[in-house]
Amino acid sequence: MTTCPVDTDSDVLRVQRTARTAALTLGFRKAEADELAIAASELATNILKYATRGLISFWVVDDPDRGIGMCIAARDQGPAFRDFSLALRDGFDDKGPIPPEALLARRGLGTGLGAVKRFTHHVEHEALDGQGKEIRALRFLKRMKK
Ligand SMILES: Nc1ncnc2c1ncn2[C@@H]1O[C@H](COP(=O)(O)OP(=O)(O)OP(=O)(O)O)[C@@H](O)[C@H]1O
Ligand SMILES: [Mg+2]
Repeated sequence: MTTCPVDTDSDVLRVQRTARTAALTLGFRKAEADELAIAASELATNILKYATRGLISFWVVDDPDRGIGMCIAARDQGPAFRDFSLALRDGFDDKGPIPPEALLARRGLGTGLGAVKRFTHHVEHEALDGQGKEIRALRFLKRMKK
């Protein structure tokens, strides 16, 4: 397992590069590794935006059905998600749709977690006992069926 602290903008870049290298090492194609790097960077950016600091970890998974894959885990102690399934939707925050008039004033279109979902096979969220939360995004080497 590799763990990167996320505290500053330069940490986001480090997370992005680490994700890409880990994905290439595991056998993902370049385009796939770039997508995993984007997913990791979106999760890291959210840590800075909503929780100030946290950790991104990478590890290899070996699923009996899906085979080998990579897990990107984002852990922070910032505010809990009101509704994680809403937050995954493009143009939504964790409460619901972002009103068009709010888009200019806020930082972001509400599409970061949507990208994480599109670039991976499975995204899950776990509230940790009094210790924040963890988002885990998994992508398997077996090609995605679109
Ligand atoms: N680490 C986090 N802690 C608490 N809330 C979060 C966290 N990450 C995301 N959220 C919530 O989920 C919503 C959706 O996140 P998402 O990354 O998709 O959009 P965004 O950050 O608002 O905009 P964008 O990523 O497009 O710049 C956020 O608006 C926020 O309400
Ligand atoms: Mg975001």
